[in-house]
Amino acid sequence: MYDKKLILYYSESGNTKKLAEMIQAAVGGELRDIKDPKPDFSAYDLIFIGTPNHAATMAKPVKEFIDGADWTGCTVAPFCTHGMGGLQNVGDDITAACKGAKKVFPALPVKGVDVDAAGDKLKDWLASLGL
Ligand SMILES: Cc1cc2nc3c(=O)[nH]c(=O)nc-3n(C[C@H](O)[C@H](O)[C@H](O)COP(=O)(O)O)c2cc1C
Repeated sequence: MYDKKLILYYSESGNTKKLAEMIQAAVGGELRDIKDPKPDFSAYDLIFIGTPNHAATMAKPVKEFIDGADWTGCTVAPFCTHGMGGLQNVGDDITAACKGAKKVFPALPVKGVDVDAAGDKLKDWLASLGL
């Protein structure tokens, strides 16, 4: 259904990066740190965007990245790693920030210390996206 996938992530201590790599291993696609030069979104059918939970929302560099991009017509799948708080406002805030997106799927939350064991949860979430 989604042929061309882009997996964007921001990660400070490596948890979100690891989850991004697991997504790429599961469904393929191009993996990019949000600090890399921004690609042309129109070349992708599905854009994953991953962030750590910082103070109950997405990390500041992710908010800045999203606010600086044009999401018109994009399909977005957010994912998050977190501590004790869980997803908190991360999914809702990403959905609100991706203005003009065609669709923003419900976010995948994974506790940072549990990323290595998140294979089944990831598989279920990917299935919910139709992958
Ligand atoms: C500055 C800062 C704020 C954080 N705030 C929260 C929070 O509000 N809720 C929560 O569940 N985890 C919070 N965490 C924990 C991180 O979301 C968690 O460790 C995450 O897996 C880190 O991802 P990373 O390794 O990709 O940077 C915070 C971590 C940092 C460094």
